[in-house]
Amino acid sequence: MNTKELETDRLCLRQWRDDDLRVFAELNSDPVVMEYFPKCLERAESDSLADTCKQLITDRGWSFWAASLKESGAFIGFVGLHDPAYLPFSPCVEVGWRLHKNYWGQGYATEAANASLRFAFEELHLDEVVSFTTVRNQRSRSVMERLGMTNTGNNFNHPKIEPDHPLSEHVLYKITKSDWR
Ligand SMILES: CC(C)(COP(=O)(O)OP(=O)(O)OC[C@H]1O[C@@H](n2cnc3c(N)ncnc32)[C@H](O)[C@@H]1OP(=O)(O)O)[C@@H](O)C(=O)NCCC(=O)NCCS
Repeated sequence: MNTKELETDRLCLRQWRDDDLRVFAELNSDPVVMEYFPKCLERAESDSLADTCKQLITDRGWSFWAASLKESGAFIGFVGLHDPAYLPFSPCVEVGWRLHKNYWGQGYATEAANASLRFAFEELHLDEVVSFTTVRNQRSRSVMERLGMTNTGNNFNHPKIEPDHPLSEHVLYKITKSDWR
């Protein structure tokens, strides 16, 4: 399949490159970026995550894309689509994001996620896309709300986090193709 790359006013969502890996490792090891994840990632774990996304993009055309600024070419993090198989409501396709903190507060996550939703509905012809995060991750919830996603109220315990862990309880948002239009 052709590798699909998306473009917005300010961003490219593109295939991963080796020279993204240093900044990706930096953001994955940053406790501020990773506040709502059970742990920061080591360099090898970060590289492996990038490699998984890269392989999925090669194989089927989409995943979490590497996001870069059109103006400077700087890599800023990832935004895109994923299909986790292990959640209580799987099969599903989620829209997700993780940016280096130098690039927060500029609307990049929402801009890139909107392009990802367009791809999900217009190219993959999905009926619905979900997004989820730990209850306290208000920045991420705000992205979901800016995208026009609805809080389903169906909170769930993330199966990869111990049930008594403070990050276990997740909110589940969704958007349908007709809501998105
Ligand atoms: C979640 C995350 C991507 C949100 O980043 P963000 O910068 O808050 O979100 P956006 O990129 O959509 O930017 C929105 C902000 O930019 C502001 N902004 C500035 N210029 C803007 C522009 N031109 N267009 C739109 N918004 C703009 C908005 O007002 C908003 O500010 P606010 O937070 O003060 O209300 C970021 O916090 C992150 O990477 N967190 C760590 C990873 C994570 O938790 N991922 C989700 C796990 S499920």
